[in-house]
Amino acid sequence: MPLASCLATSLLLALPLALAAPFSPRSTNAVSLPVQRYQKSGNNVPPHITYLQKKNHDAKRYSSMANATAPNDEELAEALGQMMIHLGVWTNYTYDTTIGKVLPATSTKRGLTMGNPPSDPADSEGLDIQGNDVYYGASVMIGTPQQEFLVMMDTGSGDFWVGATDCAIIAFNKDGDVYRTGQACTSSHTSLGNTTSSTFVNTGVKFVDQYGSGNSAAAGYIVADDVTLAGLALPNHKFGVAVLETSDFGSSDMSWSGLMGLSKSSLSVMGVPTPVDSLYKAGLISEPIVSFKIPRESDGLNDGEIAFGSLDSTKYVADTLVTLSADNSGYWISTTDGVTVNGESLSISANTVLFDTGTTLLYGPFDDVYNIHAQIPGSEIDRNDDFYLPCNTNASVAFNFGGTDFAIEPQDLVYTETSQTNLCVSAMQAMEGGPAAWLMGDVFLKNAYISLNGNANTIQLAKLA
Ligand SMILES: *[C@@H]1O[C@H](CO)[C@@H](O)[C@H](O)[C@H]1NC(C)=O
Ligand SMILES: *[C@@H]1O[C@H](CO)[C@@H](O)[C@H](O)[C@H]1NC(C)=O
Ligand SMILES: *[C@@H]1O[C@H](CO)[C@@H](O)[C@H](O)[C@H]1NC(C)=O
Ligand SMILES: *[C@@H]1O[C@H](CO)[C@@H](O)[C@H](O)[C@H]1NC(C)=O
Repeated sequence: MPLASCLATSLLLALPLALAAPFSPRSTNAVSLPVQRYQKSGNNVPPHITYLQKKNHDAKRYSSMANATAPNDEELAEALGQMMIHLGVWTNYTYDTTIGKVLPATSTKRGLTMGNPPSDPADSEGLDIQGNDVYYGASVMIGTPQQEFLVMMDTGSGDFWVGATDCAIIAFNKDGDVYRTGQACTSSHTSLGNTTSSTFVNTGVKFVDQYGSGNSAAAGYIVADDVTLAGLALPNHKFGVAVLETSDFGSSDMSWSGLMGLSKSSLSVMGVPTPVDSLYKAGLISEPIVSFKIPRESDGLNDGEIAFGSLDSTKYVADTLVTLSADNSGYWISTTDGVTVNGESLSISANTVLFDTGTTLLYGPFDDVYNIHAQIPGSEIDRNDDFYLPCNTNASVAFNFGGTDFAIEPQDLVYTETSQTNLCVSAMQAMEGGPAAWLMGDVFLKNAYISLNGNANTIQLAKLA
């Protein structure tokens, strides 16, 4: 079939570095452990919450001393919830009767935790979280009438596509040839076509995007339709609709209805500008900038944000902002000035780093990842060269950029529990057969504000506010 041969030839084109791996596990012999995100309890509670919890405790104590009726737990919890709304930390709360505690209200859609409204809705959007920090995305309005598409945001690839109304699931056989599974893509995704949008135009030009290991793909047609993101309208914008998707994209396990590549436009297999470049060319933003505050699910704050055309000064500490120049690969690649473990510098073999919101973990050259773990008491490595850490590790691993150390919180270094007590899978792993480079996924990005500027060809990092 023509699309199949088309798929096979474009493998090389789509994957110049084999690094844009939004959907691939690190390797086929990866950890076979229950994939449950390990979460430290009681860690990372914002100070005002601890203060209010303490105040509630004291209020009870005070009333019992004064021989008055103590306020009940629910009243105290409600007061805490109101205070959190007042402080602007939560947008709302719910009282959980089973644990007797008030929790931030999180709205969920299709299994995603929805981000809070951004501080400036004119050019930014709340970032939604898939699972426990696996992937991140936001809503994009497409077509006439407008439909909301929840789309994964991926700085490691260059094409924007959503599923077509007539999308089918494909798979690869052992020889790497593609075949149709006979299944349609899940109807739980929002899809686009001439039956759902009156402004939809199919150019008839085909595209094929392959990701990561190459067993993850989307293929279809370049189309034009009205796209609005963060309130900014791009009429007649060119992007893709996928009529063929591998199951990691097309099945109901996948929460997103498409993917927005936010590398530089030069990586676009479709040969069209990224939405950021299009917003800039249309004069809707003053610089082709996209900035991220990547949220941590366990914080319960839902304070993630994607901003177009600017940096959100409320999300980072201004005097920690460093500017790095990016290389000309099309990816967001720069260099690190070094790595420290618990403040001790370590010599590393590679200083090239690629910043990728579409990668969950942090990957590096084997020797470097090995040497870092060797500095962390209780670390282990298994036969498959997978690394493990004590679940309660306090190790601080920091990457230096532009003279500033950006430390990864110990809770982020720990990925999932294992069957062994207090031994967890490390969130930093080695990349087999990969280039001598670091792939800075969300494990790192949760610890810094990041802004990417295509005009200046710079990557800016700052400590989080
Ligand atoms: C405290 O309350 C108890 C019972 O409610 C009562 O018998 C006692 O007199 C009270 N003590 C004071 C100091 O008010
Ligand atoms: C909080 O959520 C409840 C429903 O769960 C709603 O009735 C209430 O208006 C919300 N409060 C605020 C401040 O949004
Ligand atoms: C609508 O799209 C389908 C394919 O999805 C195509 O077969 C059909 O010709 C299109 N109709 C029009 C009016 O363009
Ligand atoms: C981490 O620090 C805490 C508190 O200082 C301590 O109780 C715990 O044992 C430390 N964990 C490790 C693995 O050293």
